[in-house]
Amino acid sequence: MAGIAGKNIVLGVTGGIAAYKAVELTSRLKKAGAEVHVIMTRAAQKFVTELTFREISGHAVATDMWGKLQEFHVEHIALAQLADLVVIAPATANFIAKAAAGIADDLLTTTLLATKAPIFVAPAMNTNMYENPLTQRNLESLRRFGVHVMEPAEGQLACGVSGKGRLPEPSALANEILHFFGRTQSLKGRRILVTAAGTREPIDPVRYIGNRSSGKMGYAIAAEAAMRGAEVLLVSGPSALQAPAGVKLLRVESAAEMRDAVWKEYEAVDAVIMSAAVADYRVKAAASEKIKKTQDEWMLPLVKNPDILYELGQHKKGQILIGFAAETQNVLEYARGKLEKKNLDYIVANDVTEDGAGFNTDTNRILMISRTGEVERFPLMRKTELADIILDRLEALDDETSCKI
Ligand code: PMT
Repeated sequence: MAGIAGKNIVLGVTGGIAAYKAVELTSRLKKAGAEVHVIMTRAAQKFVTELTFREISGHAVATDMWGKLQEFHVEHIALAQLADLVVIAPATANFIAKAAAGIADDLLTTTLLATKAPIFVAPAMNTNMYENPLTQRNLESLRRFGVHVMEPAEGQLACGVSGKGRLPEPSALANEILHFFGRTQSLKGRRILVTAAGTREPIDPVRYIGNRSSGKMGYAIAAEAAMRGAEVLLVSGPSALQAPAGVKLLRVESAAEMRDAVWKEYEAVDAVIMSAAVADYRVKAAASEKIKKTQDEWMLPLVKNPDILYELGQHKKGQILIGFAAETQNVLEYARGKLEKKNLDYIVANDVTEDGAGFNTDTNRILMISRTGEVERFPLMRKTELADIILDRLEALDDETSCKI
């Protein structure tokens, strides 16, 4: 619990029936040692009174942009700067839509835009509203900007419908927040390099050879490592994703650029996690002008790219190396071969032909093989959850080995 003691949590409460659960959440966080500063939207005040939160949190409750609080002068800036974490629970569909669009028309949405603290959003709404593609798009867009979306629970909703959309119990929400503060310390002082997304190998100034990697897996790992307090450098091929909070992002295009960027940092890092889909081949001689479509058939000579991870494995000086294996068959056997050949500490293998796994999905199904031969298989899970597991394994190596972490 030491991690959360004295931390300032700004708790945004929006107007849903589940607002009453935020009262218990406030109480639990306060008991764990946090300072909880509540911001209520106008609609939230229809469900629970400001007085309740003031009494439970021990702090004045912020309700609008124009009210004068004794503790703060310009509330949205003061709270945004004060926050170690901003949590919105419950978050209505309307709030989520506004946040995703960058609208700042009340104290809560303005605080959200003004803060540099990590943000957790706990959606709570009717199942149809939750499943509506617009809400899903908005949540996806928040995730892209580094917001951690807490998974809603399933069950009987206040409107009588049964399904997904319930605000999880306050104990579950509090545990996730405690876990966040607990893990912020666990990689403090460590430097971790993560690679993500696919590389692009130029054919000419307009064309390239690429692959389907979105970067979601690698960005999730980088975000989780930063949340555990590590200094994280993310070397990424082209991706639509934004840099996660607290992560230094270096964008590259080709395998050669990725190799240079990784080697520049290798000596100084404690661990490398290579989730990038690096092109195995590049065009032998990329053209400097656009190639004209004069021929019916076109043979493009390719040459092998250096295997970055293999090279790192050959020059290990105590760094922990975690590689990925994207396979379409014989997953265990091929992944084991890569682990050994590349001198890795762990390999994370995924069958990229499986539904919901591999490229450009929010979920993945992985198996992990350690250098001592243990194999762990995991069910289909969100990439953010798998990132958590991968980093747990990385930390555990510290206890067993003389590796740097
Ligand atoms: O980005 P997403 O859309 O979320 O998709 C995630 C993912 C499917 C890309 C990811 O889970 C994954 O499997 N990444 C590894 C893809 C890959 O290139 O696998 P591979 O089996 O070809 O390579 C084995 C390992 O060697 C990888 O760690 C790779 O980064 C590395 N490698 C490969 C070739 C090369 N020239 N240099 C390398 O360092």
